[in-house]
Amino acid sequence: MTTTPVETGRNFAALAGTDRVAGQLYTDPGIFEQELEKIFYRTWVWVAHESEIPEAGSFKMATIGRQPVIVNRDRKGNFNVLLNRCRHRGASVCEVPKGKANGFTCPYHSWSYSLEGQLRGIPYPEGYEGVVEKKDMPLQRLRVESYAGMIFASFNHDIEPLEDFLGDAKIWIDRFMKQGAGYPIKVQGEHRFRFDGNWKIQLENTTDGYHFPIVHRSWMASVDAETADMLSFMTDEKAVTHALGNGHSVAIMVPEHVDLAEDDGTEDLQERFGHIIEELSQTMPPEQVRRIVRSMHGAGFNLNLFPNVAMSMSFFRVLRPVSVNETEIQHLALGLEGGPESVNRERLRIHEHFQGPFGFGTPDDSEAWDRVQRGAYGNQEMPILVNRGLGREEITEEGWKTSHVTDESGMREAYAQWKRMMSND
Ligand code: FES
Ligand code: FE
Repeated sequence: MTTTPVETGRNFAALAGTDRVAGQLYTDPGIFEQELEKIFYRTWVWVAHESEIPEAGSFKMATIGRQPVIVNRDRKGNFNVLLNRCRHRGASVCEVPKGKANGFTCPYHSWSYSLEGQLRGIPYPEGYEGVVEKKDMPLQRLRVESYAGMIFASFNHDIEPLEDFLGDAKIWIDRFMKQGAGYPIKVQGEHRFRFDGNWKIQLENTTDGYHFPIVHRSWMASVDAETADMLSFMTDEKAVTHALGNGHSVAIMVPEHVDLAEDDGTEDLQERFGHIIEELSQTMPPEQVRRIVRSMHGAGFNLNLFPNVAMSMSFFRVLRPVSVNETEIQHLALGLEGGPESVNRERLRIHEHFQGPFGFGTPDDSEAWDRVQRGAYGNQEMPILVNRGLGREEITEEGWKTSHVTDESGMREAYAQWKRMMSND
């Protein structure tokens, strides 16, 4: 789809090298418009987790680039993603962020649509005899597929199957979901904020282990010694980043938490979670208590799915490009569906402590991102470097480029995909 004039004759591929990208990638409005067209309106974009729309008629609003959409579950249990734009004169047919409905009625002249997007009713239809056939005027439907509860949509109906696009990232999505310790993962709540910077600054951050002990020093100082120790991965050689292909990557920060099912002890978490261990032990076998308590901090890794969602430790982080120098971030806190209340409550507290608006983590991150944007205006010809660890990258048995978690392999992977997509006409 085209919503902006296409800028022809520009060599976007030349702006991204193997180990550096041009500074204009953060600052040039023309590049931003092309990113919407060539990336966000062509590839798979994450729109929801199935727990957010649990029943027939459940819906939520989302935005892909600048396009407002509605994600819903119909009576057959299928997911639909519909452009939130009336076929009459363009009004949005839904302004409620989340809820339950039998369909959507435009407030302007009351054209009404089913959950699948079919136009069902037009008031005073006499004027439309021989002019409008209802069957020809559904809400625009996007292609929709889901994997492990993660729902993705695309404006591109010819796109490859979602599972092919995710590729080896599926292995890590499956591992991430193990933090439910047998319970399905559910979204417990969300909050949003914006920062004054380009969307790729966030894209880079998800697998940037290098910044963690520096930007998050105040968080480290605010937690107990055992938790801080858990995230002291600067010198842990098992803490690595894998480039998984198609722009996706995973940064493993707590290697011993990666396979939660095989974890074998809660001793080092006694100080923090002793009260919960005690409560769960009254009704659960020790192995199950271990799995739940171990997973309290999440999966032990950050998985970056190009272009817009990170499955990060114990939450989803979704980015939305607003303009070349503004990005919206949505944090969705995860809990265990049907799990112990005390565990879900504790998970929310942990989430607030780091990711929350008054937390010790995200405000520091967003301060750094704002500064990157301000600095990048200083000399847009000067490149952004993503070369850390280039000399020590290896290839794993699976064929993944791998390097230490403080290296920039994940960013190089994302920019390789950026380059591929931006080079296509
Ligand atoms: Fe929707 Fe007129 S704009 S019914
Ligand atoms: Fe951070």
